[in-house]
Amino acid sequence: MNATPPSGSGGLLAEHCLALLRAREGAAYVLERRLAGGRQGGAWLVRDAEKRPAVLKATVDPGLLARRRETSALVRALVARGYPTPAWIHDGVSEDGVAYVVSEYVEGSTPAWAEVDVRQLLDAIELQKRVAAPSAQTWSDYAQHVASDHSPTMRGLEGRGAAVERLLDRASCGLRSLGEIDLPRSDAVHGDLELGNTISVADRVVVVDIDACGPGTRALDHAWLYRDAARHGAADSVCSQIRAAGSAVAGEAVFRFCLVVACLELVAFVAAHGTAASLSVEADHARRCLERAARR
Ligand SMILES: Nc1ncnc2c1ncn2[C@@H]1O[C@H](COP(=O)(O)OP(=O)(O)OP(=O)(O)O)[C@@H](O)[C@H]1O
Ligand SMILES: [Mg+2]
Repeated sequence: MNATPPSGSGGLLAEHCLALLRAREGAAYVLERRLAGGRQGGAWLVRDAEKRPAVLKATVDPGLLARRRETSALVRALVARGYPTPAWIHDGVSEDGVAYVVSEYVEGSTPAWAEVDVRQLLDAIELQKRVAAPSAQTWSDYAQHVASDHSPTMRGLEGRGAAVERLLDRASCGLRSLGEIDLPRSDAVHGDLELGNTISVADRVVVVDIDACGPGTRALDHAWLYRDAARHGAADSVCSQIRAAGSAVAGEAVFRFCLVVACLELVAFVAAHGTAASLSVEADHARRCLERAARR
């Protein structure tokens, strides 16, 4: 085995993990193909010795590595509660700094907002309630950091064009109007709950891409989902249901605070990975999303 893992997130890293799984656990998987639809590291379809499908994900992200043990425990607790996510079959962190997960494969397709049963997603989020143990580092701490004065996220967006400036003004004004917010920390938080990270299987919806799961407030997932719904033209009734469920967690101010963070995080991601044109489009959508949520 190499002393350092292959860099990047391509097939080499996946092959590296399969070799590791063979050596560590005697699990013989074969790489089949990269699954379509991922926006970041990606997921790989693999087959075990009996040709049964499974999904491999691997990362060298230091933040994800540091809390992998906590994430693994949370995912197992959620699955035990009936949370609709594929169970983790193998997971671990290698000595050379790669976190890997092999999970069950589910056959289905990514739903659209016009067809999804949002109630099922909201019911899933309720299963995240008070499942997390106390932790030194939570999604709520991260969110408070993003929304704090001179946060690196906001500073990184300065000077990125008029649309981003309008969003920053809107976000700062919204945060000021909310006053001091202390987010709860005892729920599990998926951390990237959008429709692209769900799979529709017959009449139920399954949540994937859960490997950033950590402790925090589930209102963050309501906020992520609301932003995605508003961005992709979901019906008003759908947005209202998400907002009502998010506000029921710890009050409307907590939900709106989380929504500011969700909008800033998405736009920061586009600023880092997208074009200037896509950045101003997303910044305008994010600002309108905040304005919409501020209206009664
Ligand atoms: N367990 C699974 N069964 C079937 N399909 C899956 C499964 N996990 C992921 N997928 C499909 O693969 C796509 C990419 O996976 P995922 O969302 O986990 O990767 P990603 O967005 O690139 O991840 P990350 O943001 O962690 O780098 C998903 O959108 C989904 O369509
Ligand atoms: Mg994904």
